[in-house]
Amino acid sequence: MLIQDQSDVTEAVLKAIGQAPDARHSQILSALVRHLHAFVREVRVTEEELEFAFDFLNRIGQASNDRHNEAALFSDALGVSTLVCLMNNGAGGATETASALLGPFWRLNAPELESGASLLRCPTPGTPLLMRGLVRDRAGNPIAGARVDVWQASPTGLYENQDQRQAEMNLRGVFTADSDGRFHFTSVRPAGYPVPMDGPTGDMLRAQRRQPLRPAHLHFLVFREGYKTLVTQVFPGDDPHLEYDPVFGVTPALVGRYEMQNEGAADECCVLDYEFVMQPGEARLPVPPIK
Ligand code: BEZ
Ligand code: FE
Repeated sequence: MLIQDQSDVTEAVLKAIGQAPDARHSQILSALVRHLHAFVREVRVTEEELEFAFDFLNRIGQASNDRHNEAALFSDALGVSTLVCLMNNGAGGATETASALLGPFWRLNAPELESGASLLRCPTPGTPLLMRGLVRDRAGNPIAGARVDVWQASPTGLYENQDQRQAEMNLRGVFTADSDGRFHFTSVRPAGYPVPMDGPTGDMLRAQRRQPLRPAHLHFLVFREGYKTLVTQVFPGDDPHLEYDPVFGVTPALVGRYEMQNEGAADECCVLDYEFVMQPGEARLPVPPIK
């Protein structure tokens, strides 16, 4: 059809998209165009603003590489990753869930470690941490053989893939739950750290006067055939940024008890006990956001 004026555009595009043989493609792109055109009309996007948007999207691509995923970071900072996570877990968003967004820093093939091993591959500052986990189903039965992938930032504020001074795979490891569903490891108590601010997402956060610090956390990805893969994070309850997470990842179920023992003494240690509750479902590994 010929476009007579601006009111014809949406219908013409929807008609073109409707020819796609893949029904899900057609559904997603049609809805995207309806909402995108409505948004353009609502805020009356100017030509300069459209040029800015092109540049912004191009910069997201240019900022991304094997060690950095700016698209994931942008989705996280807009709350889209958390929304998708909460809609697809906890009985389709109906109930509380122990899931959280994956974030841009999970790597495949972290070292397989024996229960009790350390996540440290090089000297790493911080208070010693002992983490003891139990993987179980909703009825309380242990899930033996569950693989638990753990990753965290150094208390200096960077993941090893962001930091030349850390050894390859520092603060990453994969454990296997024993016949009682249990595993444990040592590490350093996690600290809060800023999300990467040197790309377009950082520009957006600064423009919105948003603070960049994530509350301290450990990441876990728990995998076992027959269960929906559990991707989660566990935060200490006393972190000052719990309510201001720039990626909206904190829910009440994810606040764990990081308890200090022998504080101030030479053998001080922080202990975290946490139970990972898995639901029946598809065991699927996410596409790693970085290599
Ligand atoms: C993270 O926790 O690793 C993370 C999540 C979202 C954005 C940046 C970092
Ligand atoms: Fe993190």
